[in-house]
Amino acid sequence: MAQPTIWEQILDTANRANPYPYYEELRKTPVTRLPDGSYLVSTYAEIAALLHDPRVSSDITRNPAAAAAGAAATGEDGDGDGAGMTPTFLSMDPPDHDKFRRITMRHFGPPTTPGRVAGMEERMAEIVTDLVDDMADRGRIDVVDDLAYPLPVTVICELLGVPPGDEQRFRVWVDVALQSTDPGLDPETQQKKRVEAGKELRAFMQELVDTHRRAPGNDLLSAMATDDGPEGRMPDEQLVSTGLLLLIAGHETTVNLISNGALTLLRHPAELQRLRDDPGLAIPMVEELLRYEPPVHFIPFRTALDDIEIAGTTIPAGASLTLVLAAGNRDPAHVTDPGLFIPDRRNNQHLGFGGGVHLCFGAPLARLEAQIALTQFATRLENPRLVSDPPPYRPSPFLRGPSHLPIDIDGVLAPGQEN
Ligand code: HEM
Repeated sequence: MAQPTIWEQILDTANRANPYPYYEELRKTPVTRLPDGSYLVSTYAEIAALLHDPRVSSDITRNPAAAAAGAAATGEDGDGDGAGMTPTFLSMDPPDHDKFRRITMRHFGPPTTPGRVAGMEERMAEIVTDLVDDMADRGRIDVVDDLAYPLPVTVICELLGVPPGDEQRFRVWVDVALQSTDPGLDPETQQKKRVEAGKELRAFMQELVDTHRRAPGNDLLSAMATDDGPEGRMPDEQLVSTGLLLLIAGHETTVNLISNGALTLLRHPAELQRLRDDPGLAIPMVEELLRYEPPVHFIPFRTALDDIEIAGTTIPAGASLTLVLAAGNRDPAHVTDPGLFIPDRRNNQHLGFGGGVHLCFGAPLARLEAQIALTQFATRLENPRLVSDPPPYRPSPFLRGPSHLPIDIDGVLAPGQEN
């Protein structure tokens, strides 16, 4: 049998716990052509350049690899809005991208709605406090199920105006819609299940849009469903897709940031102690985590619209590109000692949130959630210890994080008590 390529090794679930040696290998050739004619880009400067290059398209319907994988039909792409729906601005190019992003951002952040994210800080702290309180007397907890998942899902539901309790309904559909491969099922059945789940999700979001339009509240969906703004209102189909994008992108990734963060801290006890002593460290630490253990490992399905000369290679017009963010983040040409976790680096510009016109829309929200969750994790849990290292991982190679992170603790301190 032929030796697996480096890329095949990266995709192999057996290497999910530590793909970094393979990324190091990959960076030796900054731009690699795969046998299927698509290209991988793995060094920081080249990824950053392509993220800002207007000759690189995010329109998934133009992408040959996406068509081959059946992803275009489901709208599946880098941030996971795989739900068989009208494309969102994530999968559009300017000028449409910019217009729909602006219409959405109008209700999410400055200058029109500066308080939406900042105004949730206290509520986030309250949610985390309750989640950590619930760990008292348990002995063993699961960081994923008990903290990293419930925080972002509760926050994004409250922000959008999704009623509490509905999470149980959409979680199942999201799991199915995002599943790219289930070895137990034939591809046709899988595709059918994904399309079905996509339909359920759309119907669920359309119902929410309708109810919020009839009786608007102080939430993002109500604002988007009723406000005509200077650029008009989004068509309903678009609004439904965007609502789902925010709902899904708004938590699938943040879960990984918090669980990767907790795992990294437990592997670096001195840094855990520093965070306990100085909670202000959480701000640069979360940036370092986005570099060192990013939740999104790569952006697939970009398309070259023209021949692009880069790092001595010509990527031909029409080729599919994958930007390997996690490899670029550890590029020694960009950052010194890239394999070390140094929370107070001041030069930790990273690719964790992508870059260019598609730079993550929800970054301010994700940062705040992770800062609050990891601070309470450090200051309130007594003597936290990993049960197994590495923990089990979710199968996805691009939205990478533990599926469970069991830890043992001796107890839980009240907020503000010394640890
Ligand atoms: C740690 C958490 C997160 C990470 C690592 C992350 C990562 C990313 C990345 C890498 C992109 C670029 C995708 C591309 O260029 O194709 C992106 C885009 C996006 N993210 Fe996030 N994200 C996170 C949290 C969130 C949250 C909380 C929200 C929503 C509230 C969100 C909404 C979006 C949207 C809407 C886009 C598309 C932006 C555009 O196309 O203009 N993300 N995210």
